[in-house]
Amino acid sequence: MHHREQGYILLLGQILFMSGSLKCCSINEAKGVTMYRFLAAASLAALFSYSQTVSAAPPHPGRLLASNCFQCHGTDGRKGFEELAGKSSSSIYQEMKEMQAKAADQNIMNAHARGFSDNEIWLLADYFSKVPR
Ligand code: HEC
Repeated sequence: MHHREQGYILLLGQILFMSGSLKCCSINEAKGVTMYRFLAAASLAALFSYSQTVSAAPPHPGRLLASNCFQCHGTDGRKGFEELAGKSSSSIYQEMKEMQAKAADQNIMNAHARGFSDNEIWLLADYFSKVPR
């Protein structure tokens, strides 16, 4: 479920919850309202814990950096030429450093490699190394 949808459902829950407190007259109605509120609160609590579970696993920090390579090397480094998926992170790092050192106007990769710091190269290399082939 997306965050926006969760927001809408939470808002709906709030409206149900609030409307419970507006109309209250007889004892029986008051009981109904209490039950209504209880259900609304319970569903909110359930939703809240659900959304916590969904957002528990953050994406790999190198994925966004690695997405710069998907155009040529394939999404997630698969099905492109020179597949990067499942390659060892140290070999990707090493090749990137070698290409950084070469003249940028000789090869598209030499130019590309220069755009990343050592730390960024480690991150994206680690990402690719963990993608199953
Ligand atoms: C515009 C297309 C393009 C993009 C984008 C691109 N590459 Fe490349 N990449 C190439 C080409 C072409 C080669 C082959 C270069 C050669 O061998 O002369 C290559 C080769 C490589 C190699 C060497 C593979 C080998 O076995 O020799 C690595 C590692 C690599 N790219 C990593 C990356 C990474 C990491 C990114 C993203 C930061 C990236 N590439 C983005 C086109 C691209």
